[in-house]
Amino acid sequence: MSKAKILVFAGSAREASLNKKLASAGAAAVRRAGGDAALIDLNDYPAPIYHGDDEAEHGLPENILILKRMIAEHDGLMIATPEYNGFVPPLLVNTFSWVSRKSDKGGPEDVLKSKHVAIMAASPGRLGGVRVIPRLRDCLCELGCVPVQGFVTVPAAGSAFSADGDLADDTAQKGLDSLAARLVAAAG
Ligand SMILES: Cc1cc2nc3c(=O)[nH]c(=O)nc-3n(C[C@H](O)[C@H](O)[C@H](O)COP(=O)(O)O)c2cc1C
Repeated sequence: MSKAKILVFAGSAREASLNKKLASAGAAAVRRAGGDAALIDLNDYPAPIYHGDDEAEHGLPENILILKRMIAEHDGLMIATPEYNGFVPPLLVNTFSWVSRKSDKGGPEDVLKSKHVAIMAASPGRLGGVRVIPRLRDCLCELGCVPVQGFVTVPAAGSAFSADGDLADDTAQKGLDSLAARLVAAAG
């Protein structure tokens, strides 16, 4: 049986992003669970803010076509999202707005339909970004994704990671491993 292929990314472009750290820890957890994890940085796939006139004139940006193909080639997604004022950050809203659009240049469509997804959040705050979880989940369900049960939040994330990149707290790390295992099982 082939390994479940999981595409892992953070909803932050920031170099020192806490959610990029969480995405990296998530990718390691996916590999431990027997999955094949590809960790990408959305910073490498910049796209303009979605604008209908822009789309009508130029179609989908090349980077969005690349992302759509990558999503189509994976069995599941693992996303670490920042929380901005309780809401989904603009980078993810923009990325998913573009990805949801059909292209007249060919390539896969409906790439998020039936895609298994695990959602995580990291924040320097004490709630760990918990308010963004149901909002991102709703948005992904609207696009056809199938979220796995549960989620991971990392409060006080500035000091939550050990030198090897895993979560320093054993219970939190077990939660991450368990989320990754559920995603790999669902997507495999
Ligand atoms: C516009 C804005 C709104 C924010 N709102 C929240 C919030 O609602 N809850 C929270 O825990 N942190 C909030 N933060 C702090 C972010 O969690 C923090 O900047 C975090 O490091 C961003 O994620 P990143 O490190 O992956 O870039 C906010 C930050 C910004 C810039």
